[in-house]
Amino acid sequence: MRVDAGNKADIPEGESRLIKAGDEKVLVFHLTDGFFATQARCTHLFRSMEKGKVLEDKCVQCPLHRARFNIRTGEVEEWANFPPGVQLLNALRQEKALKTYTVVEEGERLFVEL
Ligand code: FES
Repeated sequence: MRVDAGNKADIPEGESRLIKAGDEKVLVFHLTDGFFATQARCTHLFRSMEKGKVLEDKCVQCPLHRARFNIRTGEVEEWANFPPGVQLLNALRQEKALKTYTVVEEGERLFVEL
């Protein structure tokens, strides 16, 4: 499935945009070397990362327990670590990468391949 993700110009570098693709919510990120897409829900406790921070042109940080994921690969860079004590939950919630999706640029438009 291919989903229209809007205009490139609508996602400033270092920011992201949430799009809906059927039942899936996807974040499209603009980094220095292009556009990337991941699932929007954190794999820890499923919080939306729409308001997550983009760090060092590399990671998205979940706003709830601060897990950090590599935007380009989806891999976990650091698992949930906030507030103190959340590590007890981590015994039940093992590290899990985000799904990533290909972003295709056509002229000024972006499309995500799901
Ligand atoms: S829900 Fe994202 S780190 Fe816990």
